[in-house]
Amino acid sequence: MDILLGLQWGDEGKGKVVDFLAPQYEVVARFQGGPNAGHTLVFDAVKHVLHQIPSGIFRPQTQNVIGNGVIIDPIVMKKEIEKLLAQGIEVRQNLYFSKKAHLILPTHRLLDAAQETAKGVQKIGSTLKGISPTYQDKIGRNGLRIGDILLPNFKQLYQEKKAQHLKILTEFYQHDLSSLESEEQAFFEALDFLKTFQLVDSEYLLFEAQKNKKRILAEGAQGTLLDIDFGSYPFVTSSNTTASGACSGLGVAPRHIEEVFGIFKAYCTRVGSGPFPTELDDEVGEAIREKGQEFGATTGRKRRCGWLDLPALLYAIQLNGVTQLLMMKADVLSGFEQIKICTHYQLPDGTKTQEVPYDLVQTPVSPQYQTFEGWGELHADKIQHFDDLPKTLQAYIRFIEEATQTPITLVSYGAKRTDTLLRQKLAETV
Ligand code: GDP
Ligand code: IMO
Ligand code: MG
Repeated sequence: MDILLGLQWGDEGKGKVVDFLAPQYEVVARFQGGPNAGHTLVFDAVKHVLHQIPSGIFRPQTQNVIGNGVIIDPIVMKKEIEKLLAQGIEVRQNLYFSKKAHLILPTHRLLDAAQETAKGVQKIGSTLKGISPTYQDKIGRNGLRIGDILLPNFKQLYQEKKAQHLKILTEFYQHDLSSLESEEQAFFEALDFLKTFQLVDSEYLLFEAQKNKKRILAEGAQGTLLDIDFGSYPFVTSSNTTASGACSGLGVAPRHIEEVFGIFKAYCTRVGSGPFPTELDDEVGEAIREKGQEFGATTGRKRRCGWLDLPALLYAIQLNGVTQLLMMKADVLSGFEQIKICTHYQLPDGTKTQEVPYDLVQTPVSPQYQTFEGWGELHADKIQHFDDLPKTLQAYIRFIEEATQTPITLVSYGAKRTDTLLRQKLAETV
């Protein structure tokens, strides 16, 4: 199994590349996260955004698996599937749900909103999709799984969970419950709809696929710096977004992992709160946001923008055992006279380091930059080989490869499937 995951704060372009690579794989599987994700694909002049469905769904020969590590909002899922069905996509045949994936209940969404409001200025900037409360219930051994919807007493189990949530929502948070009734109706309609899909023991599906030498690509959501253990805690999401999450979120043993594709933007973005050492709170950051159209695919929020952060990238490469780097959005930096990379952090005591400190809030770092000459517009029709890229972009890529000791095997220079340069190594392995 190969893994493709984000090395930054999410939105690196995972959807685009998974869709691009999917014809080479028999199975694409999501292993964590839920509708907080927004993965964008652009082909045939149409833009598609997927939240919970793997990005291999547009490739008719690819099985798409939603693993046990994912959490599912049935209402969002129904809408997502209906949109695809309307476009004639083979969802019924090509989509599999792990019965062990946990359900996001309407009250989980309310709890997410209540918990965020209670945090005030300390809020995480959650997508308000119910992610944290659902994973809390999972780890607290108090959740409901999608396989449970087939049980005759599911409604009763649901009512028990709901009663617990309502107690917290009313007694502790005094939260507004006026939307609950209509949401519950939509929830049960969506569950009836999902019952007609393939709910399976997906770990067995994947054992079988491995036995038959089928190629599996695990698709990450969010990014390494949002990982619950290694991200900028507490400004993180509630799952392991790193490579180990693919094993626990799918039931695939570590020894079956082959390539780990680490995807990063030529710069950095972050949506939501939390530390961001190289953030550009100025006209340069604004220019990157405009050129890169850096607005959230799930919430529409402005993404914060900044220069590439090498210490953070090195950290992510090590945590995930990245074997190949994929660099996205090179076109967005076109036209900038100077481009910077943060090579080190300077700590408050003056020392320089390439390590990410325990807590970037308590230990604010001052980024130390190296400046690179910019490059002009990239013309898709003229890029066939690495040598076709502007020399200054080649130098930027070579610098990152050297600094990380990891090859950059794919360079993306536009949102479309076709705006992609595949270099030698990836082509050999895929
Ligand atoms: P994901 O969550 O990692 O799948 O990324 P998102 O879809 O949230 O955000 C990436 C955005 O960048 C989407 O709007 C993509 O269509 C777009 N995109 C992907 N690759 C490129 C690229 O190389 N250049 C440009 N300009 N846009 C890209
Ligand atoms: P994809 O898969 C970018 C961020 C939120 C918030 C924090 C916690 O599209 O890359 P949560 O709703 O998970 O409790 O929010 O994580 N976040 C993302 N940022 N891309 C994502 O997914 C994200 N999913 C969550 O903005 O800061
Ligand atoms: Mg996204």
